[in-house]
Amino acid sequence: MRIEEFKLERWMSRWETKVSYDIAESGILPMSTNDLLDLLPAGERDAARDRLLNLPLGYTEARGTEALRAALAATYENTTADNILITTGAIEANYLLFNVLLSPGDEVITIDPAYQQVQSVPKAIGADVKYWRIRADDGFRFDLEDFERQLTPRTKMISINTPHNPTGAILTDDELQHVYEVAASMGAMVMSDEAYRWLDIPGGDPMPSPMRNRGELGISVGTVSKPFGVPGLRIGWIVAPEPIVKQCWAMRDYITLSPGKLNDALALIAVEHRDAIRSRTHRIVAENMVIADTWFADNTDLASWVRPRAGLLALMRYHLDIPSLELSDLLAEKYSVMLAPGSAFGFEQHLRIGVGQNPAIFAEGLARTKQCFDDLLAQGVKRLPAAAPGA
Ligand SMILES: Cc1ncc(COP(=O)(O)O)c(C=O)c1O
Repeated sequence: MRIEEFKLERWMSRWETKVSYDIAESGILPMSTNDLLDLLPAGERDAARDRLLNLPLGYTEARGTEALRAALAATYENTTADNILITTGAIEANYLLFNVLLSPGDEVITIDPAYQQVQSVPKAIGADVKYWRIRADDGFRFDLEDFERQLTPRTKMISINTPHNPTGAILTDDELQHVYEVAASMGAMVMSDEAYRWLDIPGGDPMPSPMRNRGELGISVGTVSKPFGVPGLRIGWIVAPEPIVKQCWAMRDYITLSPGKLNDALALIAVEHRDAIRSRTHRIVAENMVIADTWFADNTDLASWVRPRAGLLALMRYHLDIPSLELSDLLAEKYSVMLAPGSAFGFEQHLRIGVGQNPAIFAEGLARTKQCFDDLLAQGVKRLPAAAPGA
């Protein structure tokens, strides 16, 4: 398979080990193994630590342990452990589903802008990819009319991601139901990348019910990476009708075979204690939202944003005449700040910002960003008229 370069991942790999103020990250501030163990009642921690340290590190169940699959299944309706395949992150889940469900020439509707994988993999398979735009005017919104315009009797799959990377847009419960019903009436599947599930923002939109709950043509993809702050575990999952799960599993035999055993065990602790993690997430995000709101209010001449409605990501529009990749590289190299270039998502004049970082680092990252913008103006870079994100 020939596939185009994953622009964002290439750019992140270049800087993520070098900068001190990474405020582009898409996940919540990572947790350690000790942090996870601290979620257990005090009387159970030592025994759990011993169990983990003495776990024989043989291969684990190929599709993920029954315990983890059952714990996840309980978070969906009409779902058992057999409807779940544990994967190496949501990224492998998406990859398997596209490869199992799509053939060259199949019509697929995918969102734009997007986490690039959901566009590049169907294209590499040779699918006929159509784009459902997220409208930038009036804040970032999924344009349901555009979706209905793209849908044809040939459409095999609709691929969505909500809450959305990179805009922080979200489809409401009613909108998701509408998408499912319209798609199902044409016999099309809806594959929903729910990597940002459980990441409602305090004061933001409520989290809708997953796509899997809406019927047999609905498929959900999940991960512990973003909501639970443990992306290093590389644990994601597919929730789908059993025949699809089996096909994905059969393909995965050739790729990663099974999850890491210790990772599966740690992911189970995170899933079982998701309410406590969610409280931690809310504390971090609420603090960062205040910092961001204040920064944008103080710097209207330099930048603007649409607050994320859910998830952890948003696009910042900057009012300086400099390409986003050049600006991102400069911020990383000279100011030790990571803000991802909008060009990686086809959004020039924008930078992607994440609100899941440690608040002290987040605040300093924004302070340094202002310093960079001021320095550029002092060096003669032209100021552009203030405009709303997406403009
Ligand atoms: C929308 C979306 N899907 C999937 C992934 C991959 O996540 P994971 O770490 O679970 O592989 C990401 C990571 O940024 C993402 O934003």
